[in-house]
Amino acid sequence: MVNVVPVALGSRSYEVRIGSGLIDGLGGQIAPLLRRRKVAVVTDETVAAVHLMGLAKSLEREGIAMTALALPPGESTKGWQQLERCVEWLLEQKIERRDVVLAFGGGVVGDLVGFAAAILRRGVRFVQVPTTLLAQVDSSVGGKTGINTVQGKNLVGAFHQPSLVLADIGVLDTLTPRDFLAGYGEVVKYGLLGDAAFFDWLEVNGPLMAQGNADARLRAVTRSVEMKAGIVSRDETEEGERALLNLGHTFAHALEKATGYSGRLLHGEAVAVGCALAFELSQRLGVCSQEAPSRVRAHLKAMGMKTDLADIPGDLPAAEDLLRLMGQDKKVVDGQLRFILAREIGAAFVADDVPPDRVKTLLDEVLAARS
Ligand SMILES: NC(=O)c1ccc[n+]([C@@H]2O[C@H](COP(=O)([O-])OP(=O)(O)OC[C@H]3O[C@@H](n4cnc5c(N)ncnc54)[C@H](O)[C@@H]3O)[C@@H](O)[C@H]2O)c1
Repeated sequence: MVNVVPVALGSRSYEVRIGSGLIDGLGGQIAPLLRRRKVAVVTDETVAAVHLMGLAKSLEREGIAMTALALPPGESTKGWQQLERCVEWLLEQKIERRDVVLAFGGGVVGDLVGFAAAILRRGVRFVQVPTTLLAQVDSSVGGKTGINTVQGKNLVGAFHQPSLVLADIGVLDTLTPRDFLAGYGEVVKYGLLGDAAFFDWLEVNGPLMAQGNADARLRAVTRSVEMKAGIVSRDETEEGERALLNLGHTFAHALEKATGYSGRLLHGEAVAVGCALAFELSQRLGVCSQEAPSRVRAHLKAMGMKTDLADIPGDLPAAEDLLRLMGQDKKVVDGQLRFILAREIGAAFVADDVPPDRVKTLLDEVLAARS
């Protein structure tokens, strides 16, 4: 079964197709987009080792020539060095404006290759073939592309929508449990920000998803993509509603920076911890009930996910340093920190007026609880 979710953006509209075994038929799916039978595939070494052969065969069956570049896996790839390597490689492959670049991997590959496609010859088309849960439910949809710099995460980039997204949930079987759960952090985020019934469903079905149940995975990926597609269609460039997708991210980005974008804390893990903190902050500011933060934490814990700062190995900076790192986030508007808070599960809103001392007090307390 293939679920199709449209992303309605006028002349830049596209489809997200979600199902098992899509890579097997990928050649046929992308053939209509090609003006000549050639694609450039950019992936990472881990994905290449497990799945590139399947993709190559699928293209070959349609008579599509493929040239591929495998970058090192991991967040540190999403920087200037690998961007330069990727863009120069695409130029060497003589990729022209009418060609299509294929981003085959997790969010790191999708963000980097999407940005490379945005700036190559002032913009070439690209197709996202996301291979992590995180990339399938979030990063492959919506056109945010970019890289990290020493100043912070995703500070350099462009809006560049893909021409098609093919999410083959079968490839999720080869993810490590840790990478799967990191992506699950973004799935939970959708329930928390705007769909309480979906969160209820996840409380029951999340464990089934983690165990590999394909029906549960298909349903959760589809619901997540529907939510993202709806928000992106209404607010492509984050003038308003799209900011809700950043639930947990002000905390998450500071924690990722503090841990050096390393294996100590994956992006999706940071988002889960950040969502728990956002609910805690909402409750302390008196906008949400006492039960909501406990319920969020209980579900994350039941899934075996990182939930508290205590779950992050190694030292963390002091509260004022974490606050300073938040100040470098893109979500700073006129010097004011922007938080996504919640009135309840499924009802998030944007707050530009959270007093920094309230955030510092919360961080002081949760940092003290670590020792
Ligand atoms: N553009 C957006 O809207 C958006 C949204 C959310 C997150 N992001 C970005 O996404 C990035 C994180 O993405 P991610 O969590 O996918 O990380 P990732 O791309 O680093 O992938 C995680 C790991 O899984 C491996 N992997 C990928 N697919 C696999 C498969 N099928 N089987 C086995 N291993 C596989 C990768 O090699 C990597 O080691 C961050 O940089 C974050 O900023 C972007």
